[in-house]
Amino acid sequence: MTEACTYVIFGATGNLTRVKLMPALYHLEQAGRLSPGTVILASGRKPYDREQWILEVKNMLATKARNDLDEALFEARFKSRLYYFQGNLNEPAMYQQLNTLLTTDSTFPANIAFYMAIRPDEFGVVVKSLSEVKLLKEKPGGWRRVVVEKPFGTDLTSARDLHQQLSKCLQEEQLYRIDHYLGKATVQNVLVFRFANLMLEPLWNRNYIDHIQITHAETLSVGSRADYYDQAGALRDMIQSHLLQMLTLVAMEPPVAMEAEALRDEKVKVLKSIRPISAQAVHAQSVRAQYVAGSIEQKPVVGYLEEDKVPANSTTETYAALKLFIDNWRWAGVPFYLRTGKRLAANQSLISICFKQPPRQFFKKAQFEQVRPNWLLLGIQPHECLKAEMTVKEPGLEMKTRQITLDASFRSQNEVLNEAYEELLLDVIEGDHSLFLRYDEVQYAWQVVDPILRVWATERDYIPSYQAGSWGPVEGRRLFEQAGQDWRDSY
Ligand code: BG6
Repeated sequence: MTEACTYVIFGATGNLTRVKLMPALYHLEQAGRLSPGTVILASGRKPYDREQWILEVKNMLATKARNDLDEALFEARFKSRLYYFQGNLNEPAMYQQLNTLLTTDSTFPANIAFYMAIRPDEFGVVVKSLSEVKLLKEKPGGWRRVVVEKPFGTDLTSARDLHQQLSKCLQEEQLYRIDHYLGKATVQNVLVFRFANLMLEPLWNRNYIDHIQITHAETLSVGSRADYYDQAGALRDMIQSHLLQMLTLVAMEPPVAMEAEALRDEKVKVLKSIRPISAQAVHAQSVRAQYVAGSIEQKPVVGYLEEDKVPANSTTETYAALKLFIDNWRWAGVPFYLRTGKRLAANQSLISICFKQPPRQFFKKAQFEQVRPNWLLLGIQPHECLKAEMTVKEPGLEMKTRQITLDASFRSQNEVLNEAYEELLLDVIEGDHSLFLRYDEVQYAWQVVDPILRVWATERDYIPSYQAGSWGPVEGRRLFEQAGQDWRDSY
């Protein structure tokens, strides 16, 4: 059982609270992981009284709870944890009132986690204001923690500024920078898979691995988030954060211990070893594109420029792909291909590891044309899977080969798939930083993508396109080193 705490959520009615945070807290309740004293104080501008807020949360859960909302559980336990605090983030008086409430009313445990489910440009002012009323000052029996969402800055300079701003008010141990991909079970399984199975280690390097692909594809459009997304684009939105995090887990050296600092040290070493992309190399190592009208699941959909709130002349990329090299002993010369996009052909997050071809001479007399390299596939979502593709002889008198798949997918039908936020919200209460980003990780990740962002920023009059519902622009293929290589779409 965790310690009792007050979870203060700024951004009560925003999308993140509605779709991820409230359902995650409810699922933690269901799993019996919230201490009896824990309360959730959501703060927003709208004038709800407590009863209205409880109803609002119930509505959020009605669509998002796993296996339907358990009314009895909601009424008997979850509802009693829910409180609402109306306030405007830009008004200093609000923080005084919040301070009075949290420090004088014994309903609210003195351990407090402040969750910034708000616009990134508000992080600084909220943290400063909390600090001014001493709400961030820890005391025995009263820890104070702040959870910030991505994006942490929009480039290296702004990330540094934000870091300096937050560091004036908080110790690094009080800060929890979320990358929700690290809360996903299969992403964590990359570590277990690599470091708990000795047979993989001898193969996990430049001698046996030809290249590695990391894909995050979505059929979704930008939806109602165009005001954020059009400023960000796919490279900042997905690659700087989630995809580079996945790359660090695939590529890192074994940490000395499975604990936060050791893990994060190793991840930083990977990010630091990524070969800097010079301005001249940007076109050879990156591709960007924007979707035009097409069809998803046989239904016509509009192009990016026709989406709500997207400027008619926008050249923001909704697809980005990169080729990266990690200049260290293990990975020298092995290309890492990363790609992401909205309105692609399928929802799919997949890490695909392509091994080198075996020496072909051995199969001289056989129909070796069919021999394909081994692949190892780690499916993150929607289907979690772990598969290895191998070549075997076909039954019969001929020496013909065929591809088979060893499927080591690990979740049985009745095992629950927890949402990433459940684990992360719990880790904040437990004070475990392992799945959160340290500042230097954010910094080096920006360092990887900054040169590309700078070049793309100067090329704003044209962007290649791809049809919604396709696998992206044909240009995406030109990143590959060898003829015949291509993106891995199926698993
Ligand atoms: C978010 C991005 O961080 O991750 C979104 O801002 C993206 O654009 C989302 O859709 C993907 O997360 P998930 O968990 O749905 O794969």
